[in-house]
Amino acid sequence: MVQLKGNDRSAFVASMFGRISRRYDLLNTLMTVGMHYIWRRNAAKLAATHVSGDILDVASGTGDFAFDLLKHSNVEIVVGLDFSPEMLNVAISKSVKLGLDGRFIPVIGDAHLLPFSEERFASVTVGFGVRNFSDLPKALADIVRVTRRGGKVTVLEIVRPRGRLASVLFLRYFRWMTPKLGRFFAGDYEAYKYLPESVQNFMSVTQLSEILEGAGLRNLVVETKGMGSIAIISGERS
Ligand SMILES: C[S@@+](CC[C@H](N)C(=O)[O-])C[C@H]1O[C@@H](n2cnc3c(N)ncnc32)[C@H](O)[C@@H]1O
Repeated sequence: MVQLKGNDRSAFVASMFGRISRRYDLLNTLMTVGMHYIWRRNAAKLAATHVSGDILDVASGTGDFAFDLLKHSNVEIVVGLDFSPEMLNVAISKSVKLGLDGRFIPVIGDAHLLPFSEERFASVTVGFGVRNFSDLPKALADIVRVTRRGGKVTVLEIVRPRGRLASVLFLRYFRWMTPKLGRFFAGDYEAYKYLPESVQNFMSVTQLSEILEGAGLRNLVVETKGMGSIAIISGERS
């Protein structure tokens, strides 16, 4: 599945997230023992600090990154873009329950072709999304295009941990545990088999940082969590 390219890969990813949308939050909590909430909160702090203006959350899914951004008093509006209507529907229901429906604006769209004008946003975030993009340099170029000069782009992502032992142990645990959790709690073994595969084929924090710099970001702040398996990288558009 991860070998798929271009539109085939996008269609596979959209359909997979559509199927698991109702169980996505629960499975995240089980797989990370609740840590995903803390990682997103850390990333949202970096993305929202000293920012004045609207924020775009790309690959917004069930909306948790957007809701963490909206907890910051200087953030009024977050646009949550995703190509899975099912994931965004869960986000919309949650935004109503949280009383954030006037400040969370859901948009169906593709990260590779953002329906926004140049420099529209003061800050752009992507949480656990970039690993799924079919053409990462293209999507990042469009993300940078819609970010104001001097504005921020913040990426939160699972990466291959540094060091051979940590990397092997992490990937073994992931490959062994996640499909079982997926089958039991979401009734979807295949979707949760994709997750470790996508990480195995993804990059290290150093490689991801280099790609973000290549896309035009400067003054990167890089943090790792989860024994090096989670990267939070924030940079400024030059
Ligand atoms: C792992 S979820 C992350 C959701 C959320 N950001 C979070 O922190 O939990 C990945 C999301 O990215 C979306 N996605 C993947 N590729 C995309 C693309 N090319 N354009 C828009 N959304 C995309 C999927 O539909 C899914 O909702």
